[in-house]
Amino acid sequence: MTKNKFSLVGKVAIVTGASRGIGRAIATDLAAAGARVVVSSRKQEGVDEAAAAIRADGGEALAVACHVGKAEQRKALVERTLATWGRIDVLVNNAATNLAFSPALQIEESVFDKIMEVNAKGPFELAKACYEALQQAKGSVINIASVEGVRPARMMSAYAASKAALISLTKSLAQEWSPDVRVNVICPGLTRTKFAEPLWSNDDIVREVVSRVPLQRIAEPEEISGLAVFLASDAASYCTGTAFNVDGGYLI
Ligand SMILES: NC(=O)c1ccc[n+]([C@@H]2O[C@H](COP(=O)([O-])OP(=O)(O)OC[C@H]3O[C@@H](n4cnc5c(N)ncnc54)[C@H](OP(=O)(O)O)[C@@H]3O)[C@@H](O)[C@H]2O)c1
Repeated sequence: MTKNKFSLVGKVAIVTGASRGIGRAIATDLAAAGARVVVSSRKQEGVDEAAAAIRADGGEALAVACHVGKAEQRKALVERTLATWGRIDVLVNNAATNLAFSPALQIEESVFDKIMEVNAKGPFELAKACYEALQQAKGSVINIASVEGVRPARMMSAYAASKAALISLTKSLAQEWSPDVRVNVICPGLTRTKFAEPLWSNDDIVREVVSRVPLQRIAEPEEISGLAVFLASDAASYCTGTAFNVDGGYLI
């Protein structure tokens, strides 16, 4: 029988921000495709619960708390993964901090710094911390940015800038780390998660967004995760340095 090139059997994946939302959907789908998954976010109880759900479904998961903005916690996440499973094939940089949904004039310098630290510097540093293992495994990095990083809307300047930075870092690393490590970025549109609740719970905002989405609705987290499975798999062996939109057609 032909080898299933979408299978992730034998691969080890780290997913940050995996206790809920898009990260949890990605961790769940990676495990369903056969990967051993390190489920990570700041709060231990959240990752314990998400990892237990994956195990209950027959998958393999390890729960490790890590704030992606903190160097010592990033280092511990990589060490714990290697000590447990001895390899890293996939890093999904999904965790991000708040949208700071407000006019630029009201965004404090400290808030801007925190958004950049968690959304752009954290993923960059975690990818570097995983590089040696990824190189050995001929693995891949999947960053989760946003359509905001491509077409910034009003009231999200700092967040949009952090996502544009992540898209740019993806393209830089893809060049520097080829041919051993592939690096890609997914740009979701508005998705029904806790993170984006201030947006999708506001009827006026939803109406405005949906009016520019050909598929005429916002996304569910499970509609973003399939692309991550593809990018993690051997089926994506010729994909690197690319920003993939999963946005219902918003960026057409
Ligand atoms: N929802 C959307 O409309 C949308 C659209 C485009 C892009 N995105 C992107 O998709 C990604 C996931 O967002 P989501 O909507 O799924 O959010 P979510 O449901 O609120 O989940 C966020 C996850 O990140 C974790 N987290 C937050 N800060 C963290 C930190 N500093 N270090 C490590 N983990 C952290 C949270 O758990 P803890 O609280 O335990 O840390 C949680 O697991 C983000 O990169 C976001 O920018 C979302």
